[in-house]
Amino acid sequence: MNTRQITLAWAPLVALSLAACGGDDNANTASPTGGAASPDAAPPTGGVPATTLPDAAPPAGGAAPPVGGAAPPAAGVGRCVYTNPFGQTPECKDYLGAAWTLETATSDCAAVLPGTAGEFAAGEACAFDNEIGRCEVAEPAERAYRLVMAGAAGNCALARTGCETFARGVFTPSGACADTPPGPTPPSGPPQAGVFIQPYESCSPPLEGEAPGTSANGEVCTFNAISACTEPGRRFEDYASCDVVLSQRPYYPVPPRAVAPANDPRLNDPAYMAEMAWVTEQAGACGCTCCHSQRASKAGASVWSIDESPLWLDHLSNGGLALLAGLADSSVLGAYPAEQNHGFARVDTGLPTTDPERMQRFLLAEWMRRGLTPEDAAQIPPFGGPIYAQRVFEPEACAGSQGVDAQGIVKWGNGAARYVYILAAGSENPGVPPNLDLPEGTIWRLDVPSNGSAVASGVRYGEAPVGTTQRFPAEGAPAALVSGETYYLYVLADIGLPLTRCLFVAP
Ligand code: HEC
Repeated sequence: MNTRQITLAWAPLVALSLAACGGDDNANTASPTGGAASPDAAPPTGGVPATTLPDAAPPAGGAAPPVGGAAPPAAGVGRCVYTNPFGQTPECKDYLGAAWTLETATSDCAAVLPGTAGEFAAGEACAFDNEIGRCEVAEPAERAYRLVMAGAAGNCALARTGCETFARGVFTPSGACADTPPGPTPPSGPPQAGVFIQPYESCSPPLEGEAPGTSANGEVCTFNAISACTEPGRRFEDYASCDVVLSQRPYYPVPPRAVAPANDPRLNDPAYMAEMAWVTEQAGACGCTCCHSQRASKAGASVWSIDESPLWLDHLSNGGLALLAGLADSSVLGAYPAEQNHGFARVDTGLPTTDPERMQRFLLAEWMRRGLTPEDAAQIPPFGGPIYAQRVFEPEACAGSQGVDAQGIVKWGNGAARYVYILAAGSENPGVPPNLDLPEGTIWRLDVPSNGSAVASGVRYGEAPVGTTQRFPAEGAPAALVSGETYYLYVLADIGLPLTRCLFVAP
């Protein structure tokens, strides 16, 4: 039987909670937010937000497609194609403003960037099959232009920076970049204590002695998220911030469940040890290492430590091993698409990996080596961790005046919010970033950045109060609510801490 079939057959039987990352017996008590699982209960004050998002979550970002809005003109006097000298990526400039003439556009194109000449074509518009974004530069209006960038997902950060920092334009990601977070921009100030920091991408040169990275200029780019990984063979904590990861899930040291004896025969099995070393390297490249290694953790690892023993899988409980192996479904913890995560997927296994089959083969062998069977995996109790409970939550009608009133004022229950969603009725419950926090059916989403103050009930639909960000739609006003239609109001004190989740009818 192949491993994939095993997973498929087993997974539904083992609903996992997400309480911690861990699928194990302590899961329910592990999260400070335990109580928040109850619908609409006020979150516990103080303390780390409950999110347990460990394991994989990505995109935070604004993957929202641009909706409506005043579209700039599609074409102008012509276009200029060239190679961006920073990313060595194809780029194109459309001359849109009324003041551009064939002559001025041609001469602009001849030195389109310092030291860069382009190829001008009159009457044509920029078009690339592998477009990754557009940059509208509207000022001054009579000389407005648009840059169209092409490349791969690894070029997204550079495209955005080129637009926003150098051209001072408005960037709209598309193609391979459309699913990535809104910006690789870290929060602009110190986060408030205990607040979830949204994942963002950071890039830095390789450590001395390491090979050049695969991003522009040989840099290594990594998302700061529990479910994110850096390039295989490198350590996550060398390229991303474990402080950010620690904001995304509670951390505390927990001693290993068990430790392999010093004379364990596996230590003399080169094939086993080579495979174990590969599993260790894979784990070390991912956000898990922030809490599951001595090297990166602040005060000791949580249960399992990839650098404390070469046989660290023994540290894990059976439930924990089931999670890593994908015998327990941990998708609620979030995951990046492999192509945005240096090839690391977290679909078939709980531990992110660049080779799911190889990873699962090894971890299932470990399961069997412990004398466990597929039936045992099915016995793992379905944990009701808070995030899992939030995923399967069924909303009911809003109480009292909760919802959006005739004046467009959004009202929820007690407590200040960091996330406010209006969704179509029937939408999935918003979950963790990067892939579960903008469910289909999202009509409007307001975010308070981690360094800002949460907002009280009473914001106006479609308006972002000072210090907040409209996360969806990426640009422009949200769709008007239709009188008589039912919508889903979903308000969070922070990721994983719902305040109000209910259905209302637009007046
Ligand atoms: C911010 C800290 C943190 C990060 C990052 C983190 N975990 Fe954990 N994890 C914990 C804590 C704390 C526990 C212990 C829960 C308990 O038993 O009280 C735990 C427990 C576990 C367990 C259960 C271990 C057992 O034997 O019971 C598994 C499995 C696990 N984590 C997997 C992961 C994976 C996979 C990742 C990365 C995708 C990850 N964790 C990232 C903090 C973290």
